[in-house]
Amino acid sequence: MDIKDLKTHEYEVVVVGAGGAGLRAAIECSAQGMKTALICKSLLGKAHTVMAEGGMAAALGNVDTRDHWKVHFRDTMRGGKFLNVWRMAELHAQQAPDRVRELEEWGAVFDRTKDGLINQRNFGGHRYPRLAHVGDRTGLEMIRTLQDYGVHQGIDVFMEYAVLDLIKDGGQVAGLVAMISDTGEFVVFKAKAVIFATGGAGKAWKVTSNSWEYTGDGYAMAYEAGAELMDLEFTQFHPTGMVWPPSVAGILVTEGVRGEGGILTNSEGRRFMFDNIPARFASETAPDEAEADRWLAGDKNARRPAELLTRDVVARAIMKEVKEGRGSPHGGAFLDIATRRDGEYIKKKLPSMFHQFKVLAELDITKQPMEVGPTLHYFMGGIRVDADSQMTNVPGLFACGECSAGMHGANRLGGNSLSDLLVFGKLAGVGASDYCRGLDAMPTLDADQVISIIRNATSILNREQGENPYLIHDDLRDTMQTKVGIVRAETEIMEGIEALEQLKKRYQQVKADGASQYNPGWHEALSVRNLLITSEAVARAALLRKESRGGHTRLDYEGEREEWSNANVVISKGSDGEMQVNRVERGDPPEHLKKIAYAELSELESTIKIEGK
Ligand code: FUM
Repeated sequence: MDIKDLKTHEYEVVVVGAGGAGLRAAIECSAQGMKTALICKSLLGKAHTVMAEGGMAAALGNVDTRDHWKVHFRDTMRGGKFLNVWRMAELHAQQAPDRVRELEEWGAVFDRTKDGLINQRNFGGHRYPRLAHVGDRTGLEMIRTLQDYGVHQGIDVFMEYAVLDLIKDGGQVAGLVAMISDTGEFVVFKAKAVIFATGGAGKAWKVTSNSWEYTGDGYAMAYEAGAELMDLEFTQFHPTGMVWPPSVAGILVTEGVRGEGGILTNSEGRRFMFDNIPARFASETAPDEAEADRWLAGDKNARRPAELLTRDVVARAIMKEVKEGRGSPHGGAFLDIATRRDGEYIKKKLPSMFHQFKVLAELDITKQPMEVGPTLHYFMGGIRVDADSQMTNVPGLFACGECSAGMHGANRLGGNSLSDLLVFGKLAGVGASDYCRGLDAMPTLDADQVISIIRNATSILNREQGENPYLIHDDLRDTMQTKVGIVRAETEIMEGIEALEQLKKRYQQVKADGASQYNPGWHEALSVRNLLITSEAVARAALLRKESRGGHTRLDYEGEREEWSNANVVISKGSDGEMQVNRVERGDPPEHLKKIAYAELSELESTIKIEGK
């Protein structure tokens, strides 16, 4: 094979992934004068960003003027159990309001307050109504706006291209090899910088809110290229996915339902969340229904209901009810908005939920409670990046959005993802553009690497016989669901790792039947490699972290442990090809940020008042 025969494109920056982060990064690169390509695995508009339904968090202070970036920062750090990269949480809280206003200028049609400002709703872990929203279709509106704006910025979009691996020139990024999904044709992209905005890997679990694209491609390709992964043990199980009927189990039921006043009850009709208030949040949570009802009626001095505790807490509480025999008929809890809000209000604020339950479950949420349970929704961990530039330890490789690590610590607050995409998408765009400007010349393509990437892909088609990729994927999902699920313990995780080792062996013989054109089995086989690498990283990180924190619950190591409070789990590929898993101590936080994060709320608010906004 001669690589001169391959179609080759040349760009300064290639962005992989067209969700909110990828689109925002590509817009920034183009605005910075970079020749920019945007590659996506499916069609534009299909990213998981649309599954952040309830809103984007930013301290605009439109609904409650007491809100401030410092309060948002404090909430984010507490929600993340103080393991967030401090600088990332600071940048996010400070810059989110500007990014939301910018999105509005670019055409996003937000719900409005009576005074015509962007409306903001309550969400778990956020002290004030903070989520700028468009009914329960906020992610969709974000994607629509960024796409509409982006197509006029001179970005070249390559849809339905699957990226296979990165090409390097010495230590630095030189481009990537992709495959056109329908024709099976290989294409080389030569680039000074590559930005990964590839999302998560929910498809490693059986019950997930993620769609078929979420197969950990960015994690695996970055790992193969020598980048570090960090804190992959923190996997977020959103507390409210559909549990019935089985064909739709896992589909997201937005936290906006609880933000609008929805309550969780068990089979005995008890609002069990009041029994599950962690000490850290006790002073800021209504202890009983009476105060929670005052909050619902609009009393600004009432504290938030326990249903709005952070996702890790709510998901575990639902699991506990089910385990102790008080679950709903299909193994979840009841989520009731019907008795809290009138039908018209529900249809106006939660139109997609109304439609989703009507069509998929034949249930009218304005009249009946929903049945919900935890669903794998999001990865807090990911590719390790520099907070300001979003560059990885591989020069020229950047990551932003869900595929990057650090911003959310051990648990993400709902709504922080959409603002994360905008804030860090832009920063990655700036970082990559600065990097490109600093390079004297285009990197050189190494033909051997290109050929080896293509051979790895085609060997799946060419071998005479072998394992069915769908069966390997099914077994992988079973393994992760049962051994590295919402609660974990050493024995199960070790069994999981052993099962993954067996799956890796089977994968060496994976075989897709048919030709390279229109071959979904082949695409599945290519994705399974990425899922296997990601799953192994999650399982090994979960084994190493001997404590329970946020999205990582160890039955054998209950509670947060002091000795882990300042440690990250960092994973990279060793020179022997084996996965290296290391505990890495991080430095002490900057004093000014520590002061904000650990302040009593009242104390922080008086400081903000004194300093002025
Ligand atoms: O529940 C939701 O609407 C999801 C939001 C998010 O993940 O940020």
